[in-house]
Amino acid sequence: MFLNPIQLLLDAQRKKNAIGHFNIFNMESAKAVVSAIGKAKKPAFVAITETTIRYAGLGCIVGIVKELTKAQFNHSGSKAILHLDHGKSVETIKRAIEAGFSSVMIDGSALSLEENIELTKQVVKIAHKSEIAVEAELGHVGRVGEIIPKHYLTNPKTAEEFVEKTGVDSLAVAVGTIHGLVTKVKIDFERLRRIRQGVPVPLVIHGGTGLGDVALKDLIEAGATKINIDTALRIAFMRGLRQNITESDPRKPLTSAMDEETILVEDYIKKFDKGFK
Ligand code: G3H
Ligand code: ZN
Repeated sequence: MFLNPIQLLLDAQRKKNAIGHFNIFNMESAKAVVSAIGKAKKPAFVAITETTIRYAGLGCIVGIVKELTKAQFNHSGSKAILHLDHGKSVETIKRAIEAGFSSVMIDGSALSLEENIELTKQVVKIAHKSEIAVEAELGHVGRVGEIIPKHYLTNPKTAEEFVEKTGVDSLAVAVGTIHGLVTKVKIDFERLRRIRQGVPVPLVIHGGTGLGDVALKDLIEAGATKINIDTALRIAFMRGLRQNITESDPRKPLTSAMDEETILVEDYIKKFDKGFK
């Protein structure tokens, strides 16, 4: 029932557009993202991390997304990809596949190249048996506060070798973006272009929050096809929550939180779809 994103990403890669990836963490954030997909009438990734799985429970959060998409998309024909974000182990990948995800990320970016290749290969084998798409990460997209040494950026030649050896469907690359609210990032666009030239699969940018429209447009032009956004959504959610924080009925602040988030996600989806052109 969720969309396998391989063809969608390849089409976007060809057209030089991008597909948005939006992290959810509870029912309200899921409602906001699903409703934005319905309003924009364009497919997008509804992404769940291991932290959210621990917080909400796998069956519970997946059940919520299933129900929401069933209710919203029946008539509109919109589609969502249910994606595991930053999966760290084969165990989590297997659980996600069983739960109905249509796409998984295996994040072996903290491992050595050989270990990352081995782990990713193993995941590709398992996921492809169930026709589930796999994203992997090469290099390391750091978190805010983390100092990223130069060798953590993705090497274009190694990227070619990695994709060939693993058979992965999309590749998250480290080209200078950082996870979290970081407004000053130095993006190595030339590196991204070189990776794009040598690698056939769609390229993914993590750490989308700190990037303004110009950087996002340039990234898409240089070869990025999937853009991940998380922190910005939580900031919008909290802004909406605060608008009605003194209400005694929690549904009021939660509704303004969802509204703020929906507006932001719909805007991203539409801009990504046009490649900011
Ligand atoms: O995997 C999730 C993304 O990389 C989100 O990064 O919190 O900077 O938007 P962000
Ligand atoms: Zn990420």
